[in-house]
Amino acid sequence: MISTAMAARMNAQINRELYSAYFYLGLSAQAEAANLKGTAAWFMAKHGEEMTHSLKMYRYLIDQDAAVQLSAVAAPPGEAAGVLDMFERTLAHEREVTAAINNLVDHALSEKDHATSVFLQWFVTEQIEEEATVNDILGRLRRFGDQGQALLMIDNELSAIAKQMKQLAASAGAGA
Ligand code: FEO
Repeated sequence: MISTAMAARMNAQINRELYSAYFYLGLSAQAEAANLKGTAAWFMAKHGEEMTHSLKMYRYLIDQDAAVQLSAVAAPPGEAAGVLDMFERTLAHEREVTAAINNLVDHALSEKDHATSVFLQWFVTEQIEEEATVNDILGRLRRFGDQGQALLMIDNELSAIAKQMKQLAASAGAGA
């Protein structure tokens, strides 16, 4: 059992994770419209990851005998200026998520809620990895640009990363 205040914060985070999924689905659609199949696949893989995050939290609330309260998911932002802009938005978004996760951990610790604190550690680690991956992609986009040959190369690379992400997700699902 967790406190009502902790459960309310976790429910708000479920909404943020669902928004994240929607945010990436919107970017995937934009990449599809620009014929960037690898970029679209990368954002679609991110969409899947974010759905998994929301479901992890959903399951945790149920396991803790706390009520799941779903609320409206906001619309994702409008059209990005290009692939560089898509990844700049992604990094800014993930930094906001990292701050939200850190706030959740702070609250769990303030309540001496060790179970939730331990549960959230997975998300703390996940955010480090997510920010690092996006920073890496952004570094190349800033250096080589997001047009012409450079864009094609990055799109191919994103396609390969998306395949790895799908395989990892499938093996994590098989082990669950
Ligand atoms: Fe679930 Fe990337 O935050």
